[in-house]
Amino acid sequence: MTETAYVGEHAAGVAARAVNVTKTFGKGETAVTALHEVSADIEQGRFTAIMGPSGSGKSTLMHSMAGLDVIDSGEVWIGDVELTSLKEKELTQVRRDRLGFIFQSFNLIPTLTAEENILLPLAIAGRKPDQAWVDRIIDTTGLRNRLTHRPNELSGGQQQRVACARALASRPEIIFADEPTGNLDSKASEEVLNFLQRSVREDGQTIVMVTHEPSAAAHTDRVLFLADGEIVDEMANPTADRVLERLKAFEMPAAV
Ligand SMILES: Nc1ncnc2c1ncn2[C@@H]1O[C@H](COP(=O)(O)OP(=O)(O)O)[C@@H](O)[C@H]1O
Ligand SMILES: [Mg+2]
Repeated sequence: MTETAYVGEHAAGVAARAVNVTKTFGKGETAVTALHEVSADIEQGRFTAIMGPSGSGKSTLMHSMAGLDVIDSGEVWIGDVELTSLKEKELTQVRRDRLGFIFQSFNLIPTLTAEENILLPLAIAGRKPDQAWVDRIIDTTGLRNRLTHRPNELSGGQQQRVACARALASRPEIIFADEPTGNLDSKASEEVLNFLQRSVREDGQTIVMVTHEPSAAAHTDRVLFLADGEIVDEMANPTADRVLERLKAFEMPAAV
């Protein structure tokens, strides 16, 4: 069942919006329609999960909403800016100044220390770090005594916490995380998810996270379910059990 009542009830506003987004890879007979007229609102100050089977279009939806993929048709909004109307340079600016990213593979710069990695996006944008804020992030992520370490001197969980701190340091309007716990064991996953959840609850950060793990989705406020390039359902205040039930239902058609 779709629990649409939740959206209007709690939403402070819309941080990002996809409107009838269609995205095809390739041409002719080998063309794959990864997204078929997908519309979705990402609520401000909320933790949203995107779930669905492998190949259902989760990453493509996230990349399209973040202006990393060029879409065939439809609109993508970040706040009040429509991305498809922007020139490449303006798009780069939006990504740099307004968005944060966390990837499954951490994507840290190996030659830089943890602290330098955390501050790098701000340095690239030519912005001065808000030291009190950066200190708070470093303490919350438990990285205080790891700041001078390079990525290869850190565990996977620590590296991903550095990536989270890096994404949060600039206080982006929205953070896009694509399977951020995909390479982590369950303890490290839990640490990263708890941290992301706190940044939403305590600091009003907006986060969208692709995941295929019900236990990860349970940390979020709302789940969008994708199947074959379409949003087929959503769930408010998910629990791991309810998400698992819902995913099982996809694999078993209603006729069964
Ligand atoms: N760069 C690409 N070139 C061709 N096909 C792609 C590309 N990226 C994704 N696809 C196809 O688009 C569909 C959706 O992929 P993706 O968004 O990565 O799914 P998910 O993240 O849910 O696993 C899949 O059929 C995939 O093979
Ligand atoms: Mg993916």
